[in-house]
Amino acid sequence: MARFGLFLAATALALNGVDACQREHLTRRHVDGHTLKPRQTVDFPPVLTDAEAILVNSFDNNSISDWSYYYTHDDHVAGRNRGMAQWTADRWSENGIPSSLATYNVYLNYPVSHSLSLTYPNGSTFTASLEEAQLPEDPTTTWDNRIPTFHGYSKTGNATAEYVYVGRGQQVDFERLVELGVDLEGKIALAMYGGAFRGLKVKNAEAYGMIGAVLFSDPGDSGNLTIENGYAPYPDGPAMNPTYVQRGSVEFLSTYPGDPTTPGYPSKADSPRTDGSEVLPGIPSLPISYTEALPLLSALDGYGFTGEQVNRSNWIGALNVTYSTGPAPGAVISMSNVMEDATTDIWDAIGIINGTNSDETIVVGNHRDAWIIGGAADPNSGSAVLVEMSKALGRLLQVGWQPKRNIVLCSWDGEEYGLIGSTEWVEEYIPWLVETAVSYLNVDIACSGPRPEFAASPEMYSIATELMKKVIYPSGTTYTNGGVLNTTLYDAWYEETEGDLSVLGSGSDYTAFLHNGIGSIDIGAGGGALDPFYHYHSNYDSYHWMSTFGDPEFTVHKAIGQYLALLTYHMASDDLIPADLQNYAEQMHNFFDDLMETVEAANGTLDLGELSDAIDEFDGRVSEVKALETQAMEMADMNLLAVVNHKYRDWQRGLVSVGGLPDRQFYKHVVMAPGIDTGMWFRYAPVTYPGITEAVEAGNFDLASEWVSKTAMAIHRAADIIKT
Ligand SMILES: *[C@@H]1O[C@H](CO)[C@@H](O)[C@H](O)[C@H]1NC(C)=O
Ligand SMILES: *[C@@H]1O[C@H](CO)[C@@H](O)[C@H](O)[C@H]1NC(C)=O
Ligand SMILES: *[C@@H]1O[C@H](CO)[C@@H](O)[C@H](O)[C@H]1NC(C)=O
Ligand SMILES: *[C@@H]1O[C@H](CO)[C@@H](O)[C@H](O)[C@H]1NC(C)=O
Ligand SMILES: *[C@@H]1O[C@H](CO)[C@@H](O)[C@H](O)[C@H]1NC(C)=O
Ligand SMILES: *[C@@H]1O[C@H](CO)[C@@H](O)[C@H](O)[C@H]1NC(C)=O
Ligand SMILES: *[C@@H]1O[C@H](CO)[C@@H](O)[C@H](O)[C@H]1NC(C)=O
Ligand SMILES: *[C@@H]1O[C@H](CO)[C@@H](O)[C@H](O)[C@H]1NC(C)=O
Ligand SMILES: *[C@@H]1O[C@H](CO)[C@@H](O)[C@H](O)[C@H]1NC(C)=O
Ligand SMILES: [Zn+2]
Repeated sequence: MARFGLFLAATALALNGVDACQREHLTRRHVDGHTLKPRQTVDFPPVLTDAEAILVNSFDNNSISDWSYYYTHDDHVAGRNRGMAQWTADRWSENGIPSSLATYNVYLNYPVSHSLSLTYPNGSTFTASLEEAQLPEDPTTTWDNRIPTFHGYSKTGNATAEYVYVGRGQQVDFERLVELGVDLEGKIALAMYGGAFRGLKVKNAEAYGMIGAVLFSDPGDSGNLTIENGYAPYPDGPAMNPTYVQRGSVEFLSTYPGDPTTPGYPSKADSPRTDGSEVLPGIPSLPISYTEALPLLSALDGYGFTGEQVNRSNWIGALNVTYSTGPAPGAVISMSNVMEDATTDIWDAIGIINGTNSDETIVVGNHRDAWIIGGAADPNSGSAVLVEMSKALGRLLQVGWQPKRNIVLCSWDGEEYGLIGSTEWVEEYIPWLVETAVSYLNVDIACSGPRPEFAASPEMYSIATELMKKVIYPSGTTYTNGGVLNTTLYDAWYEETEGDLSVLGSGSDYTAFLHNGIGSIDIGAGGGALDPFYHYHSNYDSYHWMSTFGDPEFTVHKAIGQYLALLTYHMASDDLIPADLQNYAEQMHNFFDDLMETVEAANGTLDLGELSDAIDEFDGRVSEVKALETQAMEMADMNLLAVVNHKYRDWQRGLVSVGGLPDRQFYKHVVMAPGIDTGMWFRYAPVTYPGITEAVEAGNFDLASEWVSKTAMAIHRAADIIKT
């Protein structure tokens, strides 16, 4: 799923009324009104220690390509590929990292059959194929066992009704429709992908009394390399294939992720089960291509309100229709969706290198399951990188290295359905993780394009950026702002982001870690509006696409892998745990400024004094612990260093609020969470001070006030942990 490429992030930006194609605006969005960090100088070529050189030189783009080929040539939908899990564990073991499978027994559903047709008022019909075109050039798109287009966890059922185009299907869109008096009750929703996690579109449609949902990908979200601008569609060129369909989960992930039937505890064969109805949709839904959406949209032209009259940003796409709401009297969609329920095993491969300090652990993970036979970007670019990294770490082990901290390598299953493999594993090992985990490093889509794109907990800023300078980035990449010679990963990243390391929302396997107070980073590279269109969750996310358009020489894969290896090495082996608490404090102030703006915009009054005091206290404690750190390092005092390291390991546990956020107890982090109605977007969805911000946005100032206290209390707890 889950980690969205840059391009989709650009779409998200457009929702804020800014030109999606101007990447510099994109990256400023998070830091509105804040100072960006200045570009730092970089040595070229990078200067590496012996250990770093062993790691970096061990990466080979040819073997990464082999691993990519392996992962992208078989069905590996969640719960359907134990062989691939075992293969992964075997490769890691061979490379010197003892690995085995952790099995969970979870609820999933699989597609059986589906249909969609439109009956026009004059009685004639259009029947959708619900298929992506088979391309002879791209072998896995033609396989007999290719995976149908469907929504994971969608409801089995039929719906026949007139239908309404609901824009992006966010709450604000529905509110606008209600304001305009458009009849929603008993109708089917036709929604455009983008802007919010797809499950929330279905959830909103259901909440407004609609009986089915159809989601389409609009060519307006496909950047500048479009057919209209003269580019051929895939496989002949970089433009979006007109039959592209985005599969994906419709679990209500912003409520809780993981197995819907075992919230808060691991899914074992004999675990008690709930019905999961809090996070499972109650209406059927289907994903379609723009080619098949066009007749549905056209039939609404002239009915209800035109897109222009609706007047909401990002309501209108690039098709030659008015994006009218409808309904068109007598234009009726008939849809059927049959899913097979399964309570079935899924398999995480887990590899462990014991550290000398058994009470400190670094976890590194990638998911392995995909919606399609391929999955060359999502997620198996990351899987290929992890296999290559196990080889690199193995070489270091061979020359006698033992990390100070335990390293746990994880290949998660079931991420696509709802972060299941990682969530269940965290739920099983939570006591040990709370005691020992220093951080979680995630790589989902290592590469769907050339632009490095990271998000992290703010305390990882320094180490994350320092290590970017040690990796040479493939040249020949074109950047919006002009190419840079002698490019390191840092240069490429800075050029994209102006030094902004994004806030983690949700949408990949770091979620369960972060919301238990374990700092995380999510790394990868995506495409921008000027790069080949990435067919997310489609048959065209294939080895053929990757090796012709995405990363033809697998050199971006290699650079991302080298970076992850260096990061793992330093997190696990440095005497001092790298923790940039000053940056965390600075970000808390920035988020506070954002919160004040939110309160002002809501015309409310809210006393934020307690929160402000807590942040100030945190500031003070950071200065103290940094002084202690300096003392420990200068005196090479290992006992003192251990004291500091344990503070760095533990401090973020303070930021989790035990009862969880209002109405969603899984999400406990008081500083950042996925937005309740934006969900799992990688880049823009995070809401900061979520307990307070969302209460303010809902106009509930009593709740907001309660959350000012709870948030302040959590920050005081974190401050207490680092107190010297
Ligand atoms: C019915 O209406 C559709 C849409 O306007 C049109 O394409 C089709 O040709 C019409 N069929 C007949 C039989 O008139
Ligand atoms: C991309 O397309 C947009 C909108 O059509 C246009 O304004 C922009 O200049 C294009 N960017 C480039 C670099 O061609
Ligand atoms: C559309 O909305 C904007 C801002 O919400 C408003 O300024 C503008 O007048 C509206 N346009 C129309 C045609 O209603
Ligand atoms: C768009 O649709 C209108 C009305 O159906 C048609 O007249 C026009 O030629 C179309 N434009 C393009 C560029 O296809
Ligand atoms: C649902 O629709 C399918 C396809 O049109 C049909 O075969 C099936 O009988 C319908 N089921 C029910 C319960 O109406
Ligand atoms: C790692 O440590 C664990 C717990 O102490 C122990 O059970 C395991 O055998 C060790 N593994 C290796 C490869 O030494
Ligand atoms: C690139 O690196 C080479 C070797 O270090 C150096 O001579 C050259 O000046 C660098 N070019 C730029 C543009 O920095
Ligand atoms: C690996 O990189 C080299 C040099 O960039 C290139 O010639 C080769 O084709 C690449 N291998 C693959 C499998 O793409
Ligand atoms: C806040 O007040 C302004 C000006 O009175 C008004 O335009 C705006 O709609 C109000 N916002 C909310 C959320 O009530
Ligand atoms: Zn993914």
